[in-house]
Amino acid sequence: MARREPINDLDLTHWHEYTDILTDSLWLLGKRDNSGVHRPDYWGNFAPQIPYQAMRRFTKQGELVLDPFVGMGTTLIEALRLGRHAIGVELSPTVVQAARERIAQADNSYAARTALLQGDSTHLHTAEQVRCQMSAWGFQKAHLLIFHPPYHDIIPFSDHPRDLSNAPTVEAFLTGLEQAVALFAPLLEVGRFLVLVIGDKYAEGEWVPLGFYSMERVRKYGFRLKSICVKDFHETRGKRGQRSLWRYRALKGNFYVFAHEYVMFFEKRK
Ligand SMILES: C[S@@+](CC[C@H](N)C(=O)[O-])C[C@H]1O[C@@H](n2cnc3c(N)ncnc32)[C@H](O)[C@@H]1O
Repeated sequence: MARREPINDLDLTHWHEYTDILTDSLWLLGKRDNSGVHRPDYWGNFAPQIPYQAMRRFTKQGELVLDPFVGMGTTLIEALRLGRHAIGVELSPTVVQAARERIAQADNSYAARTALLQGDSTHLHTAEQVRCQMSAWGFQKAHLLIFHPPYHDIIPFSDHPRDLSNAPTVEAFLTGLEQAVALFAPLLEVGRFLVLVIGDKYAEGEWVPLGFYSMERVRKYGFRLKSICVKDFHETRGKRGQRSLWRYRALKGNFYVFAHEYVMFFEKRK
C-alpha cells in the first residue's frame, strides 16, 4: 500500500502526548477561547477552538487555509497563532473593516500572512481574486477550506441581497452554498480537507435539517465525508436569559431546543 504523506505536524511516535487534539465525534468544548484578540462580540462567530482543531489535524505550519465566510476573522486570527497563512472572504464591508483592525492586533510570532477580501463567495470573480492572492504568495493550491456560512436565515447578517442569510428559501440558500463549494473546491489540493460548520433550523413547527442538506451539496463536488462531529452550544444571543421559556415551549410544542451544531469533515477525492 502506498505510504500516505502526513497532512499535519503531529509526530505520531508521541501520539499520546497530544491531549488537546480531539479524536471523538462529540465535541464538548465548554468555554469559548477568548484569549488574545479573540472576542465573542460578533453575533454568529464560532469558537476559535474549531479552526484550531481543524488546522492542527489537517494542515502543517506554513500551509494555506481559505475561509470564504470569514466574518470577524476568527480563522485568520487562529491561523496567525498557529503559523498558517490564510485568506478570508467576507461580504459585509463594515465587518471586513472591523475584522482587519482586529487581525492587525493579533499575535503573529510566526510571521504568517493573512488577507481579508471583501466579496461574494458565490461569485466567480471572488474566487479569481482569491486565486490571484494565492499565486502572489506562491501557492498553487490551498491546504484546508473552512466553511462557516450563515445557517440560512437564523441570524440576519446584513441587508445585502447576496448575503446567504437573505436567501428567500432553503433551496436558494443551498444553491448559494453549493456555488461557493463549486468555486472553492478547485483551489484545494487533492487529499486535503474541507470543514463545514453548520447548524439546523426550525420553521413552521418543523425541524429543517440544514446540516444534512448542506452535507449532501458538498459531497456533490468530489468530497468524501470523513466525519460528522456534534458540537455543543449553550446560549445564542436570541435565546439569552430565556432558558426556562424555551424549555416550556419545547415541552408544550413537542420539540427539543437546539443545543448542538455540526462540524463536518470532508476529504477531496484523488
Ligand atoms: C456564520 S458567519 C461566520 C463567522 C465567522 N466564522 C467568525 O468566527 O467570525 C457567516 C458570515 O458569512 C457572511 N456572508 C454571507 N453571505 C456571504 C457571501 N455570499 N459571501 C461572503 N460572505 C458572506 C456573513 O456576512 C457572515 O459574516
